[in-house]
Amino acid sequence: MNDPIPALPTTRPAGCPFDPPSELAELRGRRPLTRMTYPDGHVGWLATSHEVVRAILADNRFSARYEIMHMPIPGYPDEMPSAPPGDMTGMDAPEHTRFRQLLAGHFTVRRMRLLTERVEQVCAERLDDMAAQGSPADLVTAFAQPVPALVICELLGVPFADHEFFQRQAQLLTSISASMEDRAAAMTALYEYLHDLVLAKRKEPTDDLLSDLTTSDLDDVELSGLGSFLLGAGLDTTANMIALGTFALLTNPDQLADLRNGWSTVDDAVEELLRYLTIAHTGIRTALADVELGGEVVRAGESVTISLQAANRDPARFPNPDMLDLSRRAAGHVALGYGIHQCLGQQLARVEMRVAFPALFTRFPTLRLAVDPAEVPMRTDSNLYGVHELQVSWD
Ligand code: HEM
Repeated sequence: MNDPIPALPTTRPAGCPFDPPSELAELRGRRPLTRMTYPDGHVGWLATSHEVVRAILADNRFSARYEIMHMPIPGYPDEMPSAPPGDMTGMDAPEHTRFRQLLAGHFTVRRMRLLTERVEQVCAERLDDMAAQGSPADLVTAFAQPVPALVICELLGVPFADHEFFQRQAQLLTSISASMEDRAAAMTALYEYLHDLVLAKRKEPTDDLLSDLTTSDLDDVELSGLGSFLLGAGLDTTANMIALGTFALLTNPDQLADLRNGWSTVDDAVEELLRYLTIAHTGIRTALADVELGGEVVRAGESVTISLQAANRDPARFPNPDMLDLSRRAAGHVALGYGIHQCLGQQLARVEMRVAFPALFTRFPTLRLAVDPAEVPMRTDSNLYGVHELQVSWD
């Protein structure tokens, strides 16, 4: 019998701050798809195996549209509004295809590699500042947040001077402790900010992505919406990976030593950190038709909560999945999603992380946590996992 579990497991186990809720592994061990009751009373599903998660994300019979989805966490309306203009994660083809095609050329591996030198410069400057301020320091505000913020600002053509404002709005958007009103206000504030910028770029184009897109067929509303979505997507995600990744490396000194002495390559290390930490831990899709999957039938209209973190810890795909092993080949993880919505900014995120981790550990060879690991404030109140603060020290 596949009796519904009463809610999405969200409590992480005490002990290791990087492990997903242990109930997810128990459920995955029993079956890949579990019936689950949603806060609005809907009885839908929870997907936990790597195979089924990938199958759903690759299947266009599952929709990403917000207005038909049931939310697995409390605090959202029973009837969700549709995606705001430019929010690609809530669109299906062909609307989604239109945006994706417009942006594809701007986020290629080649284009992002060309940015490497600039990312190196940005990292070096922030680390110099951190050194000048002296030990101890909060790695989040000194390094993990400003690096991706500076890079995405330059790419889009958004003034970095305003970063405190939009960083705050972006965090509110992914917060699950913020009220619906606060989230809506943050979205409006971000949208209005971008709208002013888009109007300015139409008048006086500069050399950046937003200016380039003023020549596309996107209207002001679509372009402002897309701009605020890209800004939000590019800020907090990589920032959380850099901060949480540093925390994981500092508490796994053997792994860090392998990275330092070249036994693990930085490319492998970044993929493994993505898999192990899976900061964007949960997604949602809704069936548009009856779909047979994992020995079950998901009926049209039923929502499936996709546990990316459970999929990335599936022992059937990754042996010894709860171990951080930088030398493993973690390719095939779903930390950046899968299918048509797979992260558009993944090459940018990779470039940033491949530069940031070595730069940090080379600049501060004695870097260590300045507090007990149990005292690091974790972002359990957000759809993006991470740390609120990471106090580090060095000699
Ligand atoms: C390590 C950092 C990052 C992680 C873990 C991450 C994770 C993800 C995930 C899981 C998705 C899929 C969402 C879904 O299927 O509903 C996604 C989509 C997306 N990401 Fe990222 N992301 C990261 C960095 C970035 C950056 C730097 C950008 C730059 C703009 C970006 C832009 C996007 C966009 C535009 C989408 C929507 C793609 C679509 O719907 O077609 N991401 N990301």
